[in-house]
Amino acid sequence: MEVLKIKGGRRLSGSLRIQGAKNSALPILAASILADGESVIHNCPRLSDVDAAARILRCLGCSVRREGESVIVDSSGMNRCCIPDQLMREMRSSVIFLGAILGRCGEAQLSYPGGCELGPRPIDMHIAALRAMGAEISERDGSIFCRARKKLSGARINLVFPSVGATENAMLAACCCQGVTVVSNAACEPEITDLQDYLVSLGARITGAGTPVITVEGPIVRRGAEHTVLPDRIAAATYMSAAASAGGDIELRSIVPEHVRRVSDVLAAAGCEIKEGKDSIRVISSKPLRAAPTVVTRPYPGFPTDAQPPLMGALLRAEGTSVFVENIFENRYRHAGELRRMGADIKTEGKVAIVSGVKRLHGCALEATDLRGGAALAVAALGAEGASSVSGLRHIDRGYEDMAGELSALGADVCRQAAEDD
Ligand code: EPZ
Repeated sequence: MEVLKIKGGRRLSGSLRIQGAKNSALPILAASILADGESVIHNCPRLSDVDAAARILRCLGCSVRREGESVIVDSSGMNRCCIPDQLMREMRSSVIFLGAILGRCGEAQLSYPGGCELGPRPIDMHIAALRAMGAEISERDGSIFCRARKKLSGARINLVFPSVGATENAMLAACCCQGVTVVSNAACEPEITDLQDYLVSLGARITGAGTPVITVEGPIVRRGAEHTVLPDRIAAATYMSAAASAGGDIELRSIVPEHVRRVSDVLAAAGCEIKEGKDSIRVISSKPLRAAPTVVTRPYPGFPTDAQPPLMGALLRAEGTSVFVENIFENRYRHAGELRRMGADIKTEGKVAIVSGVKRLHGCALEATDLRGGAALAVAALGAEGASSVSGLRHIDRGYEDMAGELSALGADVCRQAAEDD
């Protein structure tokens, strides 16, 4: 087993290019099924979740290969419409393949995506959207069976919540419908717009991504496309939080400042200086932080839930009391327990977390509980006295290309090594 060994107390400096967005690459890899030909996906991050998506594509009969920062998918050989249980279990967000498989094959079978570390991950909105297009969907023995006896037909879909995954599944299935689909109360995340851009390059007529109403008129008419994945705003938010936690002056390149504006606003209110470039951001943390105004997570353009854990890791020593309200997932404070072991003062009650700033944190052995919770531990360890070790790297590797290398590029004293007791 490997751990991140982090020595706290060192101010950060340096420049880092931000990876491509995990939460854009995954739906686009699923969408490549619709091309029925070869797609070249540039700036595709090297993540275990991307590897899991590639395994699913190969299991469906597609060929997938990586050439540097690009992943090439040829879906012309697709010959299956079932995702086996063990592949579904590897990545909860595999449900994003459902709409594309059903749209292309007229049927799909996958095991019910279990819950994950963030709590139950229901897919009722995904199912309702596909049923509205004419899919017959039954759930039996932990599996979902979908069938479209005749071609799916365009529908008016109103999501009860702007679910990212349900919006994406509806868009993908809608590309294979006869007629127009209108998705209302759609998610507005930048990754939805990135998916729309890829689908448009395949010839689909889609408008409205980035707004609550998306209109889709299929079908896909091109057998492939090239697409460059947008930068990962959550990875950017993580390294911004690292600079706030450790202090210092860093530059993050290849990002869209607007996509991290809510995080920038909170860090500026906490005392950091934020300088935005066209595709870069500079974070200067030169004095002790003060508590942030209440951080309320909301669908985009609200404060992103995925940035809540790393930001909490940065505010543990901020003077005063910071309040978090987590509205998106019901169990997204699991990192609080590990942070308390470092001396943090965090009280959680349902959606609310109260972080009272402490004078100092001490490094210790920490266990990542989930992807962004693991990032929170690394961020906090940078601002702690002494050394910390972070285990459970399988969680962190899902969403960060090389956290040890990325933090080292920013001047942190971090290395990845086998755990002592190995
Ligand atoms: C996507 O998950 C992201 N994952 C998540 O990032 C992100 O936190 C989330 O969107 C919110 O922005 C990917 O894009 C791969 P949702 P998703 O559907 O699509 C409930 C990370 O760390 N819900 O918008 O699963 C759901 O339980 C990950 O990178 C239903 O009740 O999120 C949750 O409480 C974590 N029924 C809320 O909606 C449904 O049918 C938001 O879920 C669907 C969702």
